Amino acid sequence: MSTSIQCGPDQSFKIATLLSALSPRSFEFLDLFAVHFLLSVPADEGSLAHRRHVPPRLIAPESLTDHLDLDRIFGRKMPLHIDLGCGDGSFLCALAQRMPDKNFLGIERLLNRVRTSARKAAGLENVRLLRMESFYAVRYLLPAESVERFYLLFPDPWPKRRHHRRRIVTPDFLSSIHAALQKGGSIYVATDDVDYFGIIKEVAESERGFAISDGDVDLPLSRFGLIFRQKGASIHWLELRKISPVK
Ligand SMILES: C[S@@+](CC[C@H](N)C(=O)[O-])C[C@H]1O[C@@H](n2cnc3c(N)ncnc32)[C@H](O)[C@@H]1O
Repeated sequence: MSTSIQCGPDQSFKIATLLSALSPRSFEFLDLFAVHFLLSVPADEGSLAHRRHVPPRLIAPESLTDHLDLDRIFGRKMPLHIDLGCGDGSFLCALAQRMPDKNFLGIERLLNRVRTSARKAAGLENVRLLRMESFYAVRYLLPAESVERFYLLFPDPWPKRRHHRRRIVTPDFLSSIHAALQKGGSIYVATDDVDYFGIIKEVAESERGFAISDGDVDLPLSRFGLIFRQKGASIHWLELRKISPVK
């Protein structure tokens, strides 16, 4: 196969190169995420950012198969926290302000939300943003045991039964999270959707390697957290802490 995927004016990737780097199991993943598996990487965002007075917080990976060079991206070596589906970046930036000694990466697939997040992060040295599908980034771009904490706040619940397969939390997803976490690291998950919460808990319980707790959290409110609180909705939290080596 030799089709090119355009990834912005300066970058294109040969899909054959990418596919040859994937394991057979990955093809199931490609099927599942056929629509939004790869997203255009805003390779020109630096210059665009300059015109719009947005400091260059967006990162454009040079490769879709090599691990991110996190020390270079942040310009320092500090524990890494990642907000998956960071939306407008409210939570990411509030937490980054609270913890200047940690590096924060926001991953989000919608360009406008990434741009909003980048504007919010303009004055924060410890924040970077990546426009990418979260599962792909966790599985292929993050070095093993490189992350102290993930946040997955209000992942899309896809309530219709025929859409359940689009939900991000699956055994494969959690096993990739496990591989990317440092020993003792965790993922915090929040949702207002009681059905999805039950499924997330079931999947987590079936994945040995995590200690599960209710996530007794003192964290800033995310945008959706605020919306749900204003509606009086119950928020369900889980913390999954890595307790054993990668399987
Ligand atoms: C309900 S919103 C929650 C946003 C934010 N976490 C908050 O609490 O305010 C879900 C966000 O995740 C993003 N998202 C959903 N699936 C994603 C995926 N597979 N990869 C990256 N972003 C994703 C959506 O674009 C949206 O911004």
